[in-house]
Amino acid sequence: MKHLISIADLSSEELWHILNRARQLKDEWRSGGNRPILKGKVMGMIFQKPSLRTRISFDVAMLQLGGQALYISPDEIRLGERESVPDVARVLSRYVDVIMARVFSHQHIVDLATYSRVPVINGLSDYSHPCQGIADMFTIWEKLGYLKGVKLTYVGDANNVAVSLLFAATKLGMDFTIAHPPGYGLPAEVLRRAEEFARGSGSRITVTHDPVAAVRGAQVVYTDVWTSMGQEAEKAEREAVFPPYQVNIALLSHARPDAIVMHCLPAHRGQEITDEVADSSHSALFDQAENRLHAQKGILAFLMVDQVA
Ligand code: CP
Ligand code: NVA
Repeated sequence: MKHLISIADLSSEELWHILNRARQLKDEWRSGGNRPILKGKVMGMIFQKPSLRTRISFDVAMLQLGGQALYISPDEIRLGERESVPDVARVLSRYVDVIMARVFSHQHIVDLATYSRVPVINGLSDYSHPCQGIADMFTIWEKLGYLKGVKLTYVGDANNVAVSLLFAATKLGMDFTIAHPPGYGLPAEVLRRAEEFARGSGSRITVTHDPVAAVRGAQVVYTDVWTSMGQEAEKAEREAVFPPYQVNIALLSHARPDAIVMHCLPAHRGQEITDEVADSSHSALFDQAENRLHAQKGILAFLMVDQVA
């Protein structure tokens, strides 16, 4: 049985399998022919934090594939407070066929997977956001037609989204550059693992504090919020440090003229990204959001259909 805890755990073949599955299921969806490959299957969705995209795209993906999703709100089971994480996993996995969880502590995802009888999907933790990373690779592949050698630059906070992007990019042979303020970089362990993946795939990793140098020649410019969910106490401090890392027209003018701009959303317009960029012809933001639906289907098919076939 497989889980989706981190993109680092997937081989490049498995990543490509999910991307191809997403492609196929998107084509079927477009032609109005969703097949009920998850008929009768139920997903339990544990949320400790808010969500629009992750919640709705998983819910709709399950429905369109013939199954059903149950939303479990933060107050419902109070993961690790009302009941221990292992006991929640033991009980929930007797009822449902797959568990998706959005948590504060990544360790909760690891513990859920350890004690669950069914696949567990990380729907965002303080460490990573693999479903987002997979949907982003799918979007870049769809827009550019290839992934190997693509130059992707991430500007801003080296957060959970950045970690998943880095792992995906280095598994798939893309060049990954990150520009972040001093003190807001990637964990050393993440960089070490990504360097190992890069050696295998031919990716190049560049880390800098200079956003202009970072976006030079970029085909994809990616950003995310300066303050992630759970970091609200650091908001003022972060807002003082991050403005030079805003993705605006001036910064974008240093990227390739046909560069696409990505953001996992929700965006704080006027902070990490301006309206001018978010609503420009460069923006892939809403195709990217739509592709969460198709990518979730690829992930579900990989974990629940293809693994047991
Ligand atoms: N990008 C993303 O995960 O959005 P939500 O927080 O709305 O799920
Ligand atoms: N880095 C953001 C992503 C939200 C989808 C957060 O964790 O809040």
